[in-house]
Amino acid sequence: MSKQNSLYVRWIFGTGIYMGLNKLPEYKEGKEGEKVAILGAGYVGLVSGVGFAYHGNKVTVTDVVKDKVDLINKGKAPFYEPGLDDLLSKLVKEKLLSASNDIEREVKDAKYIFICVGTPMKEDGSINLEYIRSASISIGKGMKGSKDYKVIVAKSTIIPTTTEKVIIPIIEEESGKKAGKDFGVCMNPEFLAEGNALNGALNPDRIVIGAYDKKSAEYLQKLYKPFECPKLCVDLRAAEMIKYASNSFLATKISFSNEIANICEKYGVDVYQVMEGVGLDYRINPRFLRAGLGFGGSCFPKDVSALVHAAEEVGVNPKILNAVLEVNSHQPSRAVELAESVLGNLKGKRIAILGLSFKPETDDVRFTRALPIIELLTRKGAVSVAYDPKAINNFKEYTKDKKLNIKYAKSVIEALKDADGVIIQNEWSEFKNLTAKDFNGMKTKVVIDGRRILDGTALEKKGIIYRGIGWKDNKELIYATLK
Ligand code: NAD
Ligand code: UGA
Repeated sequence: MSKQNSLYVRWIFGTGIYMGLNKLPEYKEGKEGEKVAILGAGYVGLVSGVGFAYHGNKVTVTDVVKDKVDLINKGKAPFYEPGLDDLLSKLVKEKLLSASNDIEREVKDAKYIFICVGTPMKEDGSINLEYIRSASISIGKGMKGSKDYKVIVAKSTIIPTTTEKVIIPIIEEESGKKAGKDFGVCMNPEFLAEGNALNGALNPDRIVIGAYDKKSAEYLQKLYKPFECPKLCVDLRAAEMIKYASNSFLATKISFSNEIANICEKYGVDVYQVMEGVGLDYRINPRFLRAGLGFGGSCFPKDVSALVHAAEEVGVNPKILNAVLEVNSHQPSRAVELAESVLGNLKGKRIAILGLSFKPETDDVRFTRALPIIELLTRKGAVSVAYDPKAINNFKEYTKDKKLNIKYAKSVIEALKDADGVIIQNEWSEFKNLTAKDFNGMKTKVVIDGRRILDGTALEKKGIIYRGIGWKDNKELIYATLK
């Protein structure tokens, strides 16, 4: 079935653009398709659900928030993700995917039950398991009256031992059933990245199955049969740790590049040239070496932090992981420093901010680098004029308890009008396409590019001051600093 479908789905690889689907599979219970219930209609739950439905399974995505359920049943995702609404609406129409608030009933009906609820960060940086607990309670209750063998799959990112010490005991207690005997358990981390999530779910680069026992592993392998990629079967704890190690390693690559960038700047060396040279080594590869404002998002900051806490709890001092977070926390202020080095005192200055989401192609603002930048500008007495194509409403909600000196613009040009400087925070394509004339409305043409997306030579020819973290262009300033 997957080979047939792959003829109809077209991805432009590397761009993440989904080009449409002409034919959907038929659901044949027990033959090719299975009943799947998913707890959590967020990025992971909904997009994984779409992936399973696309392969002919009957999927119900459940959530405690009724508005999300209603939107999904209308074929619309509760968040912005390229290509998702198109495929989702087709799957809903064909009745391969639906959404529900009645979690216990859906658990009762399903053979596979995926836990995809959030695992956010507590104030002390450790993992918050509140939603994992509530989901496990619903699953246990839903399983109580059912005689069928079901497999419970934890897909949320959870610290090693959580499946064994939190999820299984709660389900056993609520259901009166025994793991291994009455139901199966797997831990199946998700590796999709926002903005390219559909591609991640339909064409994963690997599938990791952590299993409680052989039977659980065999069941989950069957569900994943149509997905063509390497599949690794390990124990529950290894699967939990693979997820944290993967995210921590990617975050380490970014902080490593940022540390090199900060050193490069002092020596008048361009970090982008350096990382191009470094990335050509096949053992390293060029990805995730882009220096700049550092990593934001709903995963790297909270996952590295949760692993730091977990390590300390078991008596390990995670020196590298702490350094990764420390370097990352410093990078947003580097952009403000650069603006100050050109514009002088920022008090009363108007600074345009292009990009509020943590990266392009998403409206997710969790841990966005825009917030520390705007907070620092506010402390320095500057006003930020912010624009983002999708994330303004989410950013307003995210920062509603904060006192920020911020105005919102309806377009790039409006944000730039009369600005003393601009900080480019993310790489939406409408920012990437900016040329020198777009900056004409600025009071002083100072562009601080946190992601190195513009043609600096062309801008400088038109008299625009174009600066970024770890660039050679900062040489004169840096020599001044060193003296
Ligand atoms: P999210 O916050 O977008 O969505 C979680 C959903 O779960 C929410 O809609 C919430 O209402 C719902 N929920 C909470 N309690 C529930 C319950 N008891 N029953 C049913 N639904 C409930 O989260 P997300 O970004 O999809 O992340 C989910 C998990 O996957 C996290 O552990 C995250 O670290 C991990 N992850 C996320 C991504 C990503 O790109 N966002 C990628 C890989 C892994
Ligand atoms: C990340 C991982 O890439 C996914 O594999 C993982 O599944 C997911 O976290 C998760 O566990 O939730 P995501 O957070 O959506 O995905 O986005 P990324 O593309 O990884 O970017 C994260 C942050 O790093 C962004 O703020 C981005 O601007 C920054 N980044 C990325 C850099 O600063 N430099 C780079 O070279 C790459």
